[in-house]
Amino acid sequence: MELIITKDYKEMSQQAAVLVNAHVIVNPKLVLGLATGNTPIGMYKELIRMNKKGMIDFTNVVTFNLDEYLGLGPKDKESYHYFMFQNLFSGINIKRRNINLLNGLTKDPNGECERYEEAIRKADGIDLQILGIGHNGHIGFNEPSDVFPTATHVVALSEDTRQINSKFFKDKRKMPTGALSVGIGTIMKAKEIILLANTKQKAEAITMAIEGPVRPQVPASVLQLHSKATMILTSQAAEGLGRIFKKSKKFSLLAHKTV
Ligand code: GLP
Repeated sequence: MELIITKDYKEMSQQAAVLVNAHVIVNPKLVLGLATGNTPIGMYKELIRMNKKGMIDFTNVVTFNLDEYLGLGPKDKESYHYFMFQNLFSGINIKRRNINLLNGLTKDPNGECERYEEAIRKADGIDLQILGIGHNGHIGFNEPSDVFPTATHVVALSEDTRQINSKFFKDKRKMPTGALSVGIGTIMKAKEIILLANTKQKAEAITMAIEGPVRPQVPASVLQLHSKATMILTSQAAEGLGRIFKKSKKFSLLAHKTV
Protein backbone atom coordinates (compact mmCIF):
# COMPACT_ATOMS: atom_id res chain seq x y z
CA MET A 1 0.00 0.00 0.00
CA GLU A 2 1.24 3.48 -0.84
CA LEU A 3 0.92 6.23 1.78
CA ILE A 4 1.06 9.89 0.87
CA ILE A 5 1.13 12.18 3.87
CA THR A 6 0.15 15.77 3.21
CA LYS A 7 0.41 18.79 5.44
CA ASP A 8 -3.22 19.80 5.31
CA TYR A 9 -6.64 19.30 3.74
CA LYS A 10 -5.85 21.54 0.77
CA GLU A 11 -2.74 19.58 -0.13
CA MET A 12 -4.57 16.25 0.32
CA SER A 13 -7.37 17.42 -1.98
CA GLN A 14 -4.96 18.73 -4.63
CA GLN A 15 -2.89 15.57 -4.57
CA ALA A 16 -6.02 13.44 -5.04
CA ALA A 17 -7.35 15.64 -7.87
CA VAL A 18 -4.00 15.49 -9.67
CA LEU A 19 -4.05 11.67 -9.52
CA VAL A 20 -7.63 11.56 -10.87
CA ASN A 21 -6.54 13.95 -13.63
CA ALA A 22 -3.60 11.69 -14.51
CA HIS A 23 -5.92 8.68 -14.74
CA VAL A 24 -8.33 10.53 -17.06
CA ILE A 25 -5.44 11.65 -19.29
CA VAL A 26 -4.26 8.06 -19.60
CA ASN A 27 -7.80 6.70 -20.02
CA PRO A 28 -10.43 9.28 -21.10
CA LYS A 29 -13.14 6.59 -20.66
CA LEU A 30 -12.18 6.03 -17.04
CA VAL A 31 -14.75 4.24 -14.88
CA LEU A 32 -14.51 6.20 -11.66
CA GLY A 33 -15.96 5.09 -8.33
CA LEU A 34 -16.94 8.05 -6.15
CA ALA A 35 -17.52 8.68 -2.46
CA THR A 36 -19.54 11.21 -0.47
CA GLY A 37 -19.00 12.86 2.93
CA ASN A 38 -16.99 15.95 3.87
CA THR A 39 -13.63 14.43 2.98
CA PRO A 40 -13.76 14.45 -0.85
CA ILE A 41 -15.42 17.88 -1.16
CA GLY A 42 -12.04 19.66 -1.54
CA MET A 43 -10.97 17.20 -4.25
CA TYR A 44 -14.28 17.73 -6.06
CA LYS A 45 -13.79 21.53 -5.89
CA GLU A 46 -10.33 21.12 -7.36
CA LEU A 47 -11.65 18.84 -10.15
CA ILE A 48 -14.31 21.44 -10.98
CA ARG A 49 -11.62 24.14 -11.13
CA MET A 50 -9.42 21.99 -13.37
CA ASN A 51 -12.39 21.15 -15.62
CA LYS A 52 -13.29 24.82 -16.03
CA LYS A 53 -9.68 25.56 -16.99
CA GLY A 54 -9.75 22.75 -19.60
CA MET A 55 -7.20 20.65 -17.69
CA ILE A 56 -9.49 17.64 -17.32
CA ASP A 57 -12.25 16.42 -19.61
CA PHE A 58 -15.13 14.33 -18.21
CA THR A 59 -16.92 13.87 -21.57
CA ASN A 60 -16.33 10.12 -21.64
CA VAL A 61 -15.78 9.44 -17.95
CA VAL A 62 -18.29 7.05 -16.34
CA THR A 63 -19.01 7.26 -12.61
CA PHE A 64 -20.47 4.89 -10.04
CA ASN A 65 -21.24 6.19 -6.57
CA LEU A 66 -20.55 3.96 -3.63
CA ASP A 67 -23.73 4.20 -1.66
CA GLU A 68 -27.11 5.78 -0.94
CA TYR A 69 -29.48 6.08 1.99
CA LEU A 70 -32.63 3.97 1.75
CA GLY A 71 -35.71 6.16 1.69
CA LEU A 72 -33.99 9.27 0.28
CA GLY A 73 -34.30 10.44 -3.33
CA PRO A 74 -32.69 13.05 -5.61
CA LYS A 75 -34.82 15.85 -4.13
CA ASP A 76 -33.78 15.14 -0.54
CA LYS A 77 -30.93 17.47 0.36
CA GLU A 78 -29.36 14.77 2.54
CA SER A 79 -29.32 12.14 -0.22
CA TYR A 80 -26.02 11.25 -1.81
CA HIS A 81 -27.65 11.82 -5.19
CA TYR A 82 -28.29 15.47 -4.25
CA PHE A 83 -24.80 15.75 -2.70
CA MET A 84 -23.06 14.58 -5.87
CA PHE A 85 -24.87 17.04 -8.14
CA GLN A 86 -24.24 19.88 -5.67
CA ASN A 87 -20.57 19.11 -5.10
CA LEU A 88 -19.38 17.74 -8.42
CA PHE A 89 -21.64 16.79 -11.31
CA SER A 90 -23.27 20.17 -11.90
CA GLY A 91 -19.80 21.78 -12.05
CA ILE A 92 -18.17 19.49 -14.65
CA ASN A 93 -18.82 18.45 -18.26
CA ILE A 94 -19.90 14.88 -17.44
CA LYS A 95 -22.81 13.38 -19.40
CA ARG A 96 -25.90 12.52 -17.35
CA ARG A 97 -26.07 9.09 -18.95
CA ASN A 98 -22.57 8.32 -17.69
CA ILE A 99 -23.51 8.98 -14.05
CA ASN A 100 -24.56 5.91 -12.07
CA LEU A 101 -26.23 6.24 -8.68
CA LEU A 102 -28.07 3.80 -6.46
CA ASN A 103 -31.80 4.51 -6.16
CA GLY A 104 -32.62 5.02 -2.48
CA LEU A 105 -36.34 5.18 -3.24
CA THR A 106 -36.48 1.73 -4.78
CA LYS A 107 -39.35 -0.57 -3.75
CA ASP A 108 -37.05 -3.53 -4.36
CA PRO A 109 -33.71 -2.89 -2.58
CA ASN A 110 -32.24 -6.30 -3.40
CA GLY A 111 -33.21 -5.95 -7.06
CA GLU A 112 -31.66 -2.47 -7.12
CA CYS A 113 -28.40 -3.91 -5.76
CA GLU A 114 -28.40 -6.58 -8.49
CA ARG A 115 -29.12 -3.95 -11.18
CA TYR A 116 -26.19 -1.84 -9.96
CA GLU A 117 -23.79 -4.74 -9.72
CA GLU A 118 -24.74 -5.72 -13.29
CA ALA A 119 -24.17 -2.13 -14.51
CA ILE A 120 -20.67 -2.15 -12.96
CA ARG A 121 -19.99 -5.50 -14.63
CA LYS A 122 -21.17 -4.18 -18.00
CA ALA A 123 -18.81 -1.22 -17.63
CA ASP A 124 -15.98 -3.76 -17.14
CA GLY A 125 -15.59 -2.85 -13.47
CA ILE A 126 -14.23 0.21 -11.69
CA ASP A 127 -10.87 1.52 -12.90
CA LEU A 128 -10.24 3.95 -10.05
CA GLN A 129 -12.19 3.89 -6.79
CA ILE A 130 -12.15 6.92 -4.47
CA LEU A 131 -12.91 6.15 -0.82
CA GLY A 132 -13.37 8.03 2.42
CA ILE A 133 -13.37 6.22 5.75
CA GLY A 134 -15.84 6.22 8.63
CA HIS A 135 -14.73 6.70 12.26
CA ASN A 136 -15.39 2.99 12.74
CA GLY A 137 -13.30 2.03 9.70
CA HIS A 138 -16.21 1.62 7.30
CA ILE A 139 -15.72 2.15 3.59
CA GLY A 140 -18.79 2.98 1.51
CA PHE A 141 -21.41 1.79 3.97
CA ASN A 142 -19.65 -1.49 4.62
CA GLU A 143 -19.98 -1.45 8.38
CA PRO A 144 -17.82 -3.44 10.83
CA SER A 145 -19.09 -6.99 10.74
CA ASP A 146 -18.07 -10.64 11.08
CA VAL A 147 -17.64 -11.08 7.33
CA PHE A 148 -16.56 -8.93 4.39
CA PRO A 149 -19.68 -8.34 2.28
CA THR A 150 -18.92 -9.07 -1.36
CA ALA A 151 -21.39 -7.50 -3.80
CA THR A 152 -23.68 -4.42 -3.61
CA HIS A 153 -26.06 -5.04 -0.72
CA VAL A 154 -28.63 -3.66 1.70
CA VAL A 155 -27.08 -2.34 4.93
CA ALA A 156 -28.46 -1.74 8.42
CA LEU A 157 -26.53 1.34 9.55
CA SER A 158 -24.71 1.06 12.88
CA GLU A 159 -25.69 3.35 15.77
CA ASP A 160 -22.20 4.92 15.55
CA THR A 161 -22.61 5.81 11.90
CA ARG A 162 -26.18 7.07 12.39
CA GLN A 163 -25.06 9.34 15.19
CA ILE A 164 -22.06 10.75 13.28
CA ASN A 165 -23.86 11.14 9.92
CA SER A 166 -26.90 12.77 11.53
CA LYS A 167 -24.79 15.97 11.49
CA PHE A 168 -25.84 16.28 7.83
CA PHE A 169 -29.56 16.14 8.73
CA LYS A 170 -31.42 19.27 9.87
CA ASP A 171 -34.15 17.07 11.27
CA LYS A 172 -32.24 14.26 13.01
CA ARG A 173 -35.37 12.08 12.91
CA LYS A 174 -34.96 11.89 9.13
CA MET A 175 -31.65 10.03 9.56
CA PRO A 176 -32.25 6.69 7.78
CA THR A 177 -31.67 3.33 9.42
CA GLY A 178 -30.64 1.63 6.20
CA ALA A 179 -28.63 2.15 3.05
CA LEU A 180 -27.46 0.48 -0.14
CA SER A 181 -23.72 0.04 -0.56
CA VAL A 182 -21.31 -1.35 -3.08
CA GLY A 183 -19.69 -4.34 -1.38
CA ILE A 184 -16.10 -4.90 -0.33
CA GLY A 185 -15.69 -7.51 -3.08
CA THR A 186 -16.70 -5.00 -5.75
CA ILE A 187 -14.48 -2.29 -4.25
CA MET A 188 -11.53 -4.70 -4.14
CA LYS A 189 -12.02 -5.56 -7.82
CA ALA A 190 -11.27 -1.93 -8.73
CA LYS A 191 -7.98 -1.72 -10.60
CA GLU A 192 -6.78 1.07 -8.36
CA ILE A 193 -8.04 2.56 -5.09
CA ILE A 194 -7.39 5.92 -3.42
CA LEU A 195 -8.57 6.45 0.15
CA LEU A 196 -8.65 9.96 1.63
CA ALA A 197 -8.69 10.92 5.31
CA ASN A 198 -8.03 14.28 6.87
CA THR A 199 -9.16 14.61 10.47
CA LYS A 200 -7.73 13.61 13.83
CA GLN A 201 -10.98 11.73 14.48
CA LYS A 202 -10.00 9.32 11.69
CA ALA A 203 -6.51 8.62 13.10
CA GLU A 204 -7.54 5.52 15.06
CA ALA A 205 -9.42 3.98 12.13
CA ILE A 206 -6.46 4.73 9.83
CA THR A 207 -3.96 3.14 12.23
CA MET A 208 -6.09 0.02 12.61
CA ALA A 209 -6.63 -0.19 8.86
CA ILE A 210 -2.91 0.07 8.03
CA GLU A 211 -1.14 -1.48 11.02
CA GLY A 212 -3.76 -3.87 12.36
CA PRO A 213 -4.71 -7.28 11.09
CA VAL A 214 -7.01 -7.62 8.08
CA ARG A 215 -10.44 -8.22 9.62
CA PRO A 216 -14.05 -7.34 8.78
CA GLN A 217 -14.42 -5.53 12.13
CA VAL A 218 -12.22 -2.86 10.49
CA PRO A 219 -13.52 -2.95 6.90
CA ALA A 220 -10.80 -0.62 5.51
CA SER A 221 -8.08 -3.07 6.66
CA VAL A 222 -8.94 -5.19 3.60
CA LEU A 223 -7.11 -2.58 1.49
CA GLN A 224 -3.83 -4.10 2.73
CA LEU A 225 -4.60 -6.93 0.30
CA HIS A 226 -5.08 -4.70 -2.74
CA SER A 227 -2.13 -4.49 -5.10
CA LYS A 228 -2.69 -0.83 -6.01
CA ALA A 229 -4.15 1.01 -3.04
CA THR A 230 -2.98 4.47 -2.01
CA MET A 231 -3.97 6.37 1.10
CA ILE A 232 -3.66 10.14 0.94
CA LEU A 233 -3.71 11.37 4.52
CA THR A 234 -3.18 14.63 6.28
CA SER A 235 -0.61 14.53 9.07
CA GLN A 236 -3.54 14.70 11.52
CA ALA A 237 -5.19 11.57 10.13
CA ALA A 238 -1.78 9.85 10.04
CA GLU A 239 -0.77 10.78 13.58
CA GLY A 240 -1.42 7.30 14.98
CA LEU A 241 0.97 5.62 12.56
CA GLY A 242 3.71 5.29 15.19
CA ARG A 243 5.32 2.15 13.91
CA ILE A 244 5.71 3.40 10.36
CA PHE A 245 6.60 6.99 11.11
CA LYS A 246 8.34 6.44 14.45
CA LYS A 247 11.38 8.45 13.43
CA SER A 248 9.61 11.32 11.76
CA LYS A 249 7.17 12.69 14.30
CA LYS A 250 6.86 15.80 12.15
CA PHE A 251 5.88 15.07 8.60
CA SER A 252 4.58 18.43 7.58
CA LEU A 253 6.29 18.03 4.24
CA LEU A 254 4.84 15.64 1.75
CA ALA A 255 6.01 12.16 2.70
CA HIS A 256 5.64 9.09 0.56
CA LYS A 257 6.01 5.58 1.91
CA THR A 258 5.29 2.09 0.76
CA VAL A 259 4.05 -0.14 3.58
C1 GLP B 1 -20.36 8.12 4.99
C2 GLP B 1 -20.13 7.51 3.63
C3 GLP B 1 -18.71 7.05 3.45
C4 GLP B 1 -17.74 8.15 3.89
C5 GLP B 1 -17.97 8.45 5.36
C6 GLP B 1 -17.02 9.49 5.91
O1 GLP B 1 -20.66 7.21 5.96
N1 GLP B 1 -21.01 6.42 3.40
O2 GLP B 1 -18.50 6.68 2.10
O3 GLP B 1 -16.43 7.74 3.67
O4 GLP B 1 -19.30 8.93 5.46
O5 GLP B 1 -17.59 10.77 5.87
P1 GLP B 1 -16.78 12.10 6.12
O6 GLP B 1 -15.90 12.28 4.94
O7 GLP B 1 -17.84 13.18 6.21
O8 GLP B 1 -16.04 11.92 7.39
